[in-house]
Amino acid sequence: MEKDQKTIVVAVDGYSSTGKSTIAKMIASRLRITYIDTGAMYRAVTLAALRSGVIDGGKVDLEALRECLKNIHIGFRYNTATQVYETYLNGEYVEGEIRSMEVSNQVSMVAAVDFVREFLVAQQRELGKRENVIMDGRDIGSVVFPDAEVKFFMTASPEVRAERRYKELREKGENVSYEEVEANVRTRDYIDTHREVSPLKQTEDAIVVDNSCMSIEEELSFMISKIQEVGM
Ligand code: DC
Repeated sequence: MEKDQKTIVVAVDGYSSTGKSTIAKMIASRLRITYIDTGAMYRAVTLAALRSGVIDGGKVDLEALRECLKNIHIGFRYNTATQVYETYLNGEYVEGEIRSMEVSNQVSMVAAVDFVREFLVAQQRELGKRENVIMDGRDIGSVVFPDAEVKFFMTASPEVRAERRYKELREKGENVSYEEVEANVRTRDYIDTHREVSPLKQTEDAIVVDNSCMSIEEELSFMISKIQEVGM
Protein backbone atom coordinates (compact mmCIF):
# COMPACT_ATOMS: atom_id res chain seq x y z
CA MET A 1 0.00 0.00 0.00
CA GLU A 2 1.57 3.27 -1.18
CA LYS A 3 0.86 6.11 1.17
CA ASP A 4 0.85 9.79 0.35
CA GLN A 5 4.28 10.75 1.71
CA LYS A 6 3.04 14.11 2.94
CA THR A 7 1.19 12.52 5.84
CA ILE A 8 2.62 10.77 8.86
CA VAL A 9 1.05 7.59 10.20
CA VAL A 10 1.71 6.28 13.68
CA ALA A 11 0.53 2.67 13.99
CA VAL A 12 -0.40 1.32 17.42
CA ASP A 13 -1.09 -2.41 17.29
CA GLY A 14 -1.28 -5.00 20.01
CA TYR A 15 -3.40 -7.17 22.25
CA SER A 16 -6.84 -6.13 23.47
CA SER A 17 -7.01 -4.10 26.70
CA THR A 18 -3.39 -2.98 26.56
CA GLY A 19 -4.58 0.61 26.75
CA LYS A 20 -3.89 1.27 23.06
CA SER A 21 -6.75 3.72 22.66
CA THR A 22 -6.03 5.57 25.91
CA ILE A 23 -2.41 6.20 25.02
CA ALA A 24 -3.16 6.89 21.36
CA LYS A 25 -5.72 9.56 22.34
CA MET A 26 -3.22 11.20 24.69
CA ILE A 27 -0.53 11.22 21.99
CA ALA A 28 -3.01 12.61 19.45
CA SER A 29 -3.97 15.48 21.69
CA ARG A 30 -0.34 16.23 22.65
CA LEU A 31 0.89 16.20 19.04
CA ARG A 32 -2.34 17.64 17.58
CA ILE A 33 -2.90 14.82 15.15
CA THR A 34 -6.06 12.80 14.44
CA TYR A 35 -6.78 9.66 16.41
CA ILE A 36 -8.56 6.80 14.64
CA ASP A 37 -9.86 3.83 16.61
CA THR A 38 -10.10 1.00 14.07
CA GLY A 39 -11.42 -1.43 16.71
CA ALA A 40 -14.46 0.86 16.96
CA MET A 41 -15.06 0.29 13.24
CA TYR A 42 -15.10 -3.53 13.71
CA ARG A 43 -17.32 -3.03 16.74
CA ALA A 44 -19.77 -0.85 14.78
CA VAL A 45 -20.09 -3.52 12.07
CA THR A 46 -20.68 -6.12 14.81
CA LEU A 47 -23.37 -3.97 16.39
CA ALA A 48 -25.12 -3.55 13.04
CA ALA A 49 -24.89 -7.32 12.45
CA LEU A 50 -26.35 -8.09 15.89
CA ARG A 51 -29.18 -5.63 15.40
CA SER A 52 -30.15 -7.09 12.07
CA GLY A 53 -30.02 -10.69 13.28
CA VAL A 54 -27.04 -11.62 11.08
CA ILE A 55 -25.31 -13.09 14.16
CA ASP A 56 -27.40 -15.70 15.86
CA GLY A 57 -26.42 -18.31 18.44
CA GLY A 58 -22.75 -17.40 18.03
CA LYS A 59 -22.82 -17.97 14.25
CA VAL A 60 -22.54 -15.43 11.44
CA ASP A 61 -24.64 -15.70 8.29
CA LEU A 62 -21.99 -14.58 5.80
CA GLU A 63 -24.29 -13.80 2.90
CA ALA A 64 -26.55 -11.74 5.13
CA LEU A 65 -23.49 -9.98 6.55
CA ARG A 66 -22.33 -9.09 3.05
CA GLU A 67 -25.76 -7.55 2.39
CA CYS A 68 -25.71 -5.79 5.75
CA LEU A 69 -22.39 -4.08 4.89
CA LYS A 70 -24.05 -2.30 1.96
CA ASN A 71 -26.13 -0.33 4.42
CA ILE A 72 -23.40 0.49 6.91
CA HIS A 73 -21.80 3.87 7.09
CA ILE A 74 -19.30 4.43 9.89
CA GLY A 75 -18.34 7.97 10.76
CA PHE A 76 -16.23 9.70 13.39
CA ARG A 77 -17.12 13.09 14.81
CA TYR A 78 -14.90 15.17 17.00
CA ASN A 79 -16.35 15.96 20.40
CA THR A 80 -14.86 19.29 21.40
CA ALA A 81 -15.78 18.82 25.07
CA THR A 82 -14.04 15.46 25.51
CA GLN A 83 -11.53 16.11 22.71
CA VAL A 84 -12.00 12.69 21.16
CA TYR A 85 -13.46 11.32 17.97
CA GLU A 86 -16.67 9.42 18.62
CA THR A 87 -18.19 6.66 16.55
CA TYR A 88 -21.43 6.97 14.60
CA LEU A 89 -23.27 4.18 12.81
CA ASN A 90 -25.45 5.53 10.01
CA GLY A 91 -25.52 8.87 11.80
CA GLU A 92 -26.40 7.39 15.20
CA TYR A 93 -24.09 7.87 18.19
CA VAL A 94 -23.01 4.35 19.23
CA GLU A 95 -19.96 4.88 21.49
CA GLY A 96 -21.71 3.24 24.47
CA GLU A 97 -23.23 0.29 22.68
CA ILE A 98 -20.15 -0.76 20.76
CA ARG A 99 -18.23 -1.21 24.07
CA SER A 100 -20.83 -3.54 25.64
CA MET A 101 -19.99 -7.15 26.55
CA GLU A 102 -22.43 -8.37 23.92
CA VAL A 103 -20.46 -6.67 21.15
CA SER A 104 -17.10 -7.58 22.75
CA ASN A 105 -18.08 -11.24 22.75
CA GLN A 106 -18.88 -11.30 19.03
CA VAL A 107 -16.47 -8.80 17.50
CA SER A 108 -13.49 -11.13 16.95
CA MET A 109 -15.68 -13.41 14.87
CA VAL A 110 -16.82 -10.54 12.65
CA ALA A 111 -13.26 -9.17 12.42
CA ALA A 112 -12.10 -12.55 11.09
CA VAL A 113 -14.31 -12.26 7.99
CA ASP A 114 -12.20 -11.33 4.94
CA PHE A 115 -14.71 -9.05 3.19
CA VAL A 116 -15.38 -7.14 6.42
CA ARG A 117 -11.63 -6.46 6.68
CA GLU A 118 -11.41 -5.35 3.05
CA PHE A 119 -14.34 -3.00 3.57
CA LEU A 120 -12.80 -1.38 6.66
CA VAL A 121 -9.14 -1.38 5.57
CA ALA A 122 -10.08 0.62 2.46
CA GLN A 123 -11.71 3.26 4.67
CA GLN A 124 -8.74 3.32 7.06
CA ARG A 125 -6.30 3.90 4.19
CA GLU A 126 -8.38 6.83 2.97
CA LEU A 127 -8.34 8.39 6.43
CA GLY A 128 -4.55 8.03 6.68
CA LYS A 129 -3.97 9.64 3.31
CA ARG A 130 -5.74 12.85 4.25
CA GLU A 131 -3.87 13.96 7.37
CA ASN A 132 -1.37 12.96 10.05
CA VAL A 133 -2.94 10.21 12.11
CA ILE A 134 -2.36 7.88 14.98
CA MET A 135 -4.34 4.73 14.32
CA ASP A 136 -4.84 1.87 16.75
CA GLY A 137 -5.78 -1.68 15.88
CA ARG A 138 -4.25 -5.09 15.17
CA ASP A 139 -3.00 -4.88 11.59
CA ILE A 140 -2.17 -1.21 11.08
CA GLY A 141 1.61 -1.69 10.86
CA SER A 142 1.40 -5.05 9.11
CA VAL A 143 -1.40 -4.61 6.54
CA VAL A 144 -3.09 -1.21 6.50
CA PHE A 145 0.09 0.90 6.52
CA PRO A 146 3.18 -1.33 6.23
CA ASP A 147 5.17 1.84 5.50
CA ALA A 148 3.93 3.73 8.58
CA GLU A 149 6.59 6.10 9.92
CA VAL A 150 6.35 4.74 13.48
CA LYS A 151 4.99 1.39 14.60
CA PHE A 152 4.28 0.42 18.19
CA PHE A 153 3.31 -3.04 19.40
CA MET A 154 1.56 -2.94 22.76
CA THR A 155 1.48 -5.81 25.18
CA ALA A 156 0.82 -6.59 28.89
CA SER A 157 0.06 -9.73 30.87
CA PRO A 158 -3.48 -11.18 30.42
CA GLU A 159 -4.21 -10.69 34.15
CA VAL A 160 -3.29 -6.99 34.07
CA ARG A 161 -5.36 -6.49 30.94
CA ALA A 162 -8.40 -8.35 32.35
CA GLU A 163 -8.24 -6.28 35.54
CA ARG A 164 -8.25 -3.05 33.52
CA ARG A 165 -11.18 -4.13 31.36
CA TYR A 166 -13.09 -5.38 34.41
CA LYS A 167 -12.76 -2.01 36.17
CA GLU A 168 -13.78 -0.17 33.01
CA LEU A 169 -16.93 -2.28 32.56
CA ARG A 170 -17.92 -2.10 36.25
CA GLU A 171 -17.52 1.68 36.17
CA LYS A 172 -19.94 1.74 33.26
CA GLY A 173 -22.40 -0.30 35.34
CA GLU A 174 -22.06 -3.61 33.47
CA ASN A 175 -22.74 -6.58 35.71
CA VAL A 176 -19.79 -8.85 34.81
CA SER A 177 -17.44 -11.02 36.84
CA TYR A 178 -13.65 -10.79 36.68
CA GLU A 179 -13.52 -14.44 35.48
CA GLU A 180 -15.85 -13.67 32.59
CA VAL A 181 -13.72 -10.70 31.53
CA GLU A 182 -10.46 -12.67 31.77
CA ALA A 183 -11.97 -15.46 29.67
CA ASN A 184 -13.04 -12.87 27.07
CA VAL A 185 -9.52 -11.37 26.97
CA ARG A 186 -7.92 -14.80 26.47
CA THR A 187 -10.44 -15.91 23.86
CA ARG A 188 -9.95 -12.69 21.90
CA ASP A 189 -6.15 -13.07 22.07
CA TYR A 190 -6.49 -16.54 20.64
CA ILE A 191 -8.85 -15.57 17.82
CA ASP A 192 -6.92 -12.37 17.00
CA THR A 193 -3.58 -14.19 16.70
CA HIS A 194 -4.86 -17.34 14.98
CA ARG A 195 -7.30 -16.06 12.40
CA GLU A 196 -6.46 -16.67 8.75
CA VAL A 197 -6.87 -13.09 7.57
CA SER A 198 -4.49 -10.45 8.97
CA PRO A 199 -3.75 -12.12 12.31
CA LEU A 200 -2.31 -9.93 15.04
CA LYS A 201 1.45 -10.16 14.82
CA GLN A 202 4.40 -8.04 15.73
CA THR A 203 6.28 -6.70 12.69
CA GLU A 204 10.08 -6.66 12.81
CA ASP A 205 10.24 -2.88 12.68
CA ALA A 206 7.73 -2.34 15.52
CA ILE A 207 8.75 -0.87 18.87
CA VAL A 208 7.46 -3.16 21.62
CA VAL A 209 5.82 -1.48 24.61
CA ASP A 210 5.05 -3.83 27.52
CA ASN A 211 3.07 -1.64 29.88
CA SER A 212 2.32 -4.24 32.60
CA CYS A 213 4.49 -2.31 35.03
CA MET A 214 4.70 1.12 33.41
CA SER A 215 2.91 4.27 34.51
CA ILE A 216 0.92 6.08 31.88
CA GLU A 217 3.33 9.05 32.08
CA GLU A 218 6.32 6.79 31.43
CA GLU A 219 4.55 5.20 28.51
CA LEU A 220 3.52 8.56 27.07
CA SER A 221 6.96 10.13 27.23
CA PHE A 222 8.63 7.01 25.82
CA MET A 223 6.25 6.84 22.85
CA ILE A 224 6.34 10.58 22.14
CA SER A 225 10.14 10.53 22.14
CA LYS A 226 10.07 7.74 19.56
CA ILE A 227 7.62 9.67 17.36
CA GLN A 228 9.70 12.82 17.63
CA GLU A 229 12.71 10.90 16.34
CA VAL A 230 10.99 10.76 12.95
CA GLY A 231 10.61 14.52 12.96
CA MET A 232 7.03 15.15 14.03
O1 DC B 1 -9.32 -2.75 20.00
P1 DC B 1 -10.69 -3.35 20.26
O2 DC B 1 -10.72 -4.28 21.45
O3 DC B 1 -11.77 -2.33 20.34
O4 DC B 1 -10.99 -4.25 18.97
C1 DC B 1 -12.17 -4.97 18.83
C2 DC B 1 -11.94 -6.22 18.00
O5 DC B 1 -11.69 -5.87 16.64
C3 DC B 1 -10.80 -7.12 18.45
O6 DC B 1 -11.30 -8.40 18.75
C4 DC B 1 -9.87 -7.21 17.28
C5 DC B 1 -10.58 -6.56 16.13
N1 DC B 1 -9.72 -5.62 15.39
C6 DC B 1 -9.07 -6.09 14.29
O7 DC B 1 -9.17 -7.27 13.97
N2 DC B 1 -8.33 -5.24 13.54
C7 DC B 1 -8.19 -3.96 13.88
N3 DC B 1 -7.45 -3.14 13.12
C8 DC B 1 -8.84 -3.46 15.05
C9 DC B 1 -9.59 -4.34 15.81
